[in-house]
Amino acid sequence: MASCFRGPLPGRPSLPLFLLLLRVSLAQERAAATSLLSGYFGTKSRYEEVNQHLLQDPLSLGPPDPGYLLPSAACAPLQLRALIRHGTRFPTEKQIRKLGQLHRLLRSQERPCPAAQPFAHWDMWYHPDMDGKLAPKGRLDMEQLAQRLAARFPGLFSRQRRFAFASSSKHRCVESSAAFRKGLLLALHGQLPARDIENEETEINDKLMRFFDHCEKFVTCVEENATAMYEVDAFKQGPEMKRVLEKIAATLCVPLRDLNADLVQVAFFTCSFELAIKNVNSPWCSLFNEEDAKVLEYLNDLKQYWKRGYGYDINSRSSCILFQDIFKHLDKAIAESKSSMPISSPVILQFGHAETLQPLLALMGFFKDEEPLAANNYKKQMHRKFRSGRIVPYASNLIFVLYHCDQAKTPEEEYQVQILLNEKLLPFPHSEETVSLYTDLKNHYKDILQNCHFSEECELSKTNNTSTDEL
Ligand SMILES: *[C@@H]1O[C@H](CO)[C@@H](O)[C@H](O)[C@H]1NC(C)=O
Ligand SMILES: *[C@@H]1O[C@H](CO)[C@@H](O)[C@H](O)[C@H]1NC(C)=O
Ligand SMILES: *[C@@H]1O[C@H](CO)[C@@H](O)[C@H](O)[C@H]1NC(C)=O
Repeated sequence: MASCFRGPLPGRPSLPLFLLLLRVSLAQERAAATSLLSGYFGTKSRYEEVNQHLLQDPLSLGPPDPGYLLPSAACAPLQLRALIRHGTRFPTEKQIRKLGQLHRLLRSQERPCPAAQPFAHWDMWYHPDMDGKLAPKGRLDMEQLAQRLAARFPGLFSRQRRFAFASSSKHRCVESSAAFRKGLLLALHGQLPARDIENEETEINDKLMRFFDHCEKFVTCVEENATAMYEVDAFKQGPEMKRVLEKIAATLCVPLRDLNADLVQVAFFTCSFELAIKNVNSPWCSLFNEEDAKVLEYLNDLKQYWKRGYGYDINSRSSCILFQDIFKHLDKAIAESKSSMPISSPVILQFGHAETLQPLLALMGFFKDEEPLAANNYKKQMHRKFRSGRIVPYASNLIFVLYHCDQAKTPEEEYQVQILLNEKLLPFPHSEETVSLYTDLKNHYKDILQNCHFSEECELSKTNNTSTDEL
């Protein structure tokens, strides 16, 4: 159908954004309306899914973990580097357009269909300008994360410290950085100073935070390669997805041919957005049961796996630049400590994306299943490690803490590292322990440290004609 004379979009005139935002009351956010589906939202999961205690008290540090190296064990944190995904965001423009398409489809129905009524009457309050911006809840995610980190590491987060902030250039990340800073100032000073007395700017650093955009081999072989996501496409056409599509088409009284996996996924995402942004149980959620949710979660994980995870080596190799930078700063802090100099970067706070964290976690060998995630092993992967909702929900954070330990028996024991994912100690893949001597860690990652260099890994001309599976 030609679209030359398309009239105004059907639907109510939309309210100005600020009025919409006012509707999101804080009281609502505190009400814990956990839905059965919320564990399956993948990268669109709320942070509270991985830290349920925050639903009761957003500043609580949760159950104490005896695994922390505490000052009592004669170890003091020297340096902390946090890689933080932006907080809860609005849907992207693309998602909003697809939702509009689905909404119009349901509104234009002529046959009466009782089950579709709630959707035809649903207020399409998203509009394309919201395009992936940080939601008010996302600001809170960041402010509260800052306050919890300051409470957990009071020695590092003290007033006289210097904090190095960096961010991806995306609006939601820059805003996340600002919200985090606000939370930090609140934690340190008990109130917001008249102006940002710290006088520290957030550095925009896409080379580190959006390395994937700058990696030519990744862009050509994966991002812009129409066939690279063949497992994802096959799953969209596969039996599990077909069952969900048929069920939803029947519920909504729409012909199966008018629906596809992308539209159903956008309905599922809308359920997730309404919960994460507004803390409401939206009618969109009622379309799905837990089985459907598991299928849609797998679809989301498949895409993460092939685009950001173990699917292609270049996905993780492109994060070498960040990996090298982390160890460079750890080395520097140790050198400064050894020569009794003040640590020049005791706290490094970097704001990026799920796409920043996931490849780095894959490079380091976390959450690796024995078999690849594929279109035809949905059942077999039921208990997979690679569940992006557990790994990179909104506001997810990967934190490296370097400790200096007094009374070390050997020089190697003097410097130790812990890694936290989403504020919980993450066991190292090589030892299953939650603490590692720095020398052991460097030794374990020796090959990456010596041989993985962004410019070489990402150079396209060096690629031979082999399949990307071997890249
Ligand atoms: C695109 O991906 C497919 C599947 O991995 C691969 O066989 C093909 O070589 C890739 N094409 C390019 C141009 O990288
Ligand atoms: C590409 O392949 C050729 C022949 O198989 C080989 O000689 C060459 O070293 C390869 N180049 C790279 C960069 O791997
Ligand atoms: C890559 O493959 C194409 C066709 O298969 C061939 O013509 C070309 O010479 C190959 N390039 C290299 C660098 O091997």
